[in-house]
Amino acid sequence: MKTTVALLVLVACAHSANLPSSFKKCNRSSPEPAKCYLEAASDGLPQLTKAYPEVNLPNFEPMEITELRIAAGSQSVVNVEQIFRDCKLFGLSKLHFDELNFDFDEKVLSASGLIPEIDKRCQYEFNGKILLLPMVGTGPSTIVLKNIKFTYRSEFEVVEKKNKHFMKFGTTTLSLDPESVSYNFENLFNGDKQLGDNMNKVLNENHLEVFSDVRKGYEAGLAIVLKQVLSNMFAKVSIEEGFD
Ligand SMILES: *[C@@H]1O[C@H](CO)[C@@H](O)[C@H](O)[C@H]1NC(C)=O
Repeated sequence: MKTTVALLVLVACAHSANLPSSFKKCNRSSPEPAKCYLEAASDGLPQLTKAYPEVNLPNFEPMEITELRIAAGSQSVVNVEQIFRDCKLFGLSKLHFDELNFDFDEKVLSASGLIPEIDKRCQYEFNGKILLLPMVGTGPSTIVLKNIKFTYRSEFEVVEKKNKHFMKFGTTTLSLDPESVSYNFENLFNGDKQLGDNMNKVLNENHLEVFSDVRKGYEAGLAIVLKQVLSNMFAKVSIEEGFD
């Protein structure tokens, strides 16, 4: 299984930077830092409806992804490589954290919670089979995932640069467990409306079966996106600047 992602990467300049003043800063030596991290993240995320280029943070609303390729599923439900381009993901800024922790002893960032909705709009290009039916076409697509329980885990190393310490993220895992998924692919089968409507109907009638076959691809894709966002940010914000 192979998932690839291309993101617009903001150009970083050499200087490190403090967090914008509207973001809450936490003392990692305090008795309960995880409580503060949870508050800081819960308070910071809704502010990401614009970019903060000074700390390499992109706008989350929408989050733009240049290309997302999700390999065919493993249970032969989805027998097509899904190519998505020029994606806009709406809803990530409304994510709700149940917990979030930077564990500086274990060097792990972990988080879990619920995303009420992800509305993913991309140009798609499919040429294969789903549920044994041909799935061929290119055009706009909308995939909406609702009430997604997630857990996220990213290992990091601490590297020193010019007397400051930076988090460098490595192995990252994400699990996504949506309550429902709805699909709309426009212009399937060269715009044959009847065949296209029928295919969308079949996909929506089997939404969880279809999603479960490509779930790992989605999890890997979004994990790469989130790891990249955090890597870009913490390449800019040193531990000294991001934490007390
Ligand atoms: C952080 O917490 C530690 C332990 O409670 C305390 O000694 C230190 O002064 C705090 N640092 C700041 C900048 O508040």
